[in-house]
Amino acid sequence: MLSNINPISFINTKKNGIKHTKKEIEFFIDALMSKTIDEYQISAWLMAAYLNGLDIDETSWLTEAMSNSGKKIDITTTDGMVVDKHSTGGVGDKTTLVVLPMLASCGAKVIKMSGRGLGITGGTTDKLSSIPNFKLDLTAEQIQKQLDEIGIALTGLSEEVAPADKILYHLRDTTGTVDAIPLITASILSKKIATGAKHILIDVKCGSGAFTQNIQEANKLSTLLIEVGKRCNVNVFTTITDMNQPLGMACGNALEIVEAIEALSSYKPTRFMNLCIELASQTLLKSNIYSNILDAKKDIIKKLNNQEILSKAKEWLCAQGAPADLFTNPYQYVQKANHIENVVYQGKKTWIEKIPSSIIGQSIVDLGGGRTHKDDKIDHSVGVKVFIEIGQLIHHNDILFQIHSKSQRDAIAIKEILLKSIKFSSDKIEPIPIVLKAA
Ligand code: URA
Repeated sequence: MLSNINPISFINTKKNGIKHTKKEIEFFIDALMSKTIDEYQISAWLMAAYLNGLDIDETSWLTEAMSNSGKKIDITTTDGMVVDKHSTGGVGDKTTLVVLPMLASCGAKVIKMSGRGLGITGGTTDKLSSIPNFKLDLTAEQIQKQLDEIGIALTGLSEEVAPADKILYHLRDTTGTVDAIPLITASILSKKIATGAKHILIDVKCGSGAFTQNIQEANKLSTLLIEVGKRCNVNVFTTITDMNQPLGMACGNALEIVEAIEALSSYKPTRFMNLCIELASQTLLKSNIYSNILDAKKDIIKKLNNQEILSKAKEWLCAQGAPADLFTNPYQYVQKANHIENVVYQGKKTWIEKIPSSIIGQSIVDLGGGRTHKDDKIDHSVGVKVFIEIGQLIHHNDILFQIHSKSQRDAIAIKEILLKSIKFSSDKIEPIPIVLKAA
């Protein structure tokens, strides 16, 4: 056992596939926080952990050490059930913007710490940063006040609360070490535990645009999240949902903010909204706020139709700095791309068999909407609108995609990639259900 961290021994332990001790992991997180281990050494360890894995003990110790790396938010004075909802990451996944006001309108208190985009998947803080002056660095006092007054507080990754995750998250993003089940588990649960929620829904994304690409991997991640949750005394429950095609139409930061505003303003039972209702109602059920899921769903739909959920979303976003009329005219505030280009289908009528969300996610990164270096500035205006779904019948001249880019040149390069990525079928294709496994 190390008596203190020797970075090279620590890396070698995992490189050689040997199990770490609890103490070693605690020393590692201490060293990371006190900067006595260098970023390149942390990256080397991340790759060793990626390749050789961490077992459930190591993952639980890492989760605990990361959650203890900073302050913890004390929610003991908050009245009501404090819940959280988190996605393991997908393309076009803007559910947080809709699910949080659904939960708060139905009596839950929602505390959430979100990250920026990771790999080809988008991040809630990047989306919200499309709104000028949106505040993502809430103090513990502001979180408490918002929870009491509005029922929702969302903050970005923090120097104060679970700061070890912020360091590891940004390094994983640019070292090819994101899609490791134990690292995802520790990253998600460390911040949930530090922010104090006791009932946590994790939406495990499954498919080409997710870190778990098939149901076996998604099940593994789901089981590990639940088991580590138990060891850390939090009630974690999961859904496994489809990420073989993007979620909703808009993919890209500002485009997704506008889509969420439109969905809240005028409810339609789209695939995206059906998922939001499923996630919110599962959370209300599992945290004992509702005893029956059908009642939860009915109430959510009623509150969407009478715009209670819209009002809650306005209250929340305005409390964190959004302008009051963002909802009336979002494009007055969020940036529009310089160039918009439609991708039109030219051919006989056909069914859509595949729309790889990984390629759409990568296209957004290539257009400048994601990062390849940890300090990259992103362009919030760029993205891709997807007008098709798997199982849809399309005809000559239908618009498949709309590319929002800095220049026509960028759009043309992406257009070819997107067109090649779709698989068409002359036989009828069945749509893929959005929920693959409920909590
Ligand atoms: N969300 C997180 O917070 N961390 C991950 O590693 C993946 C998704």
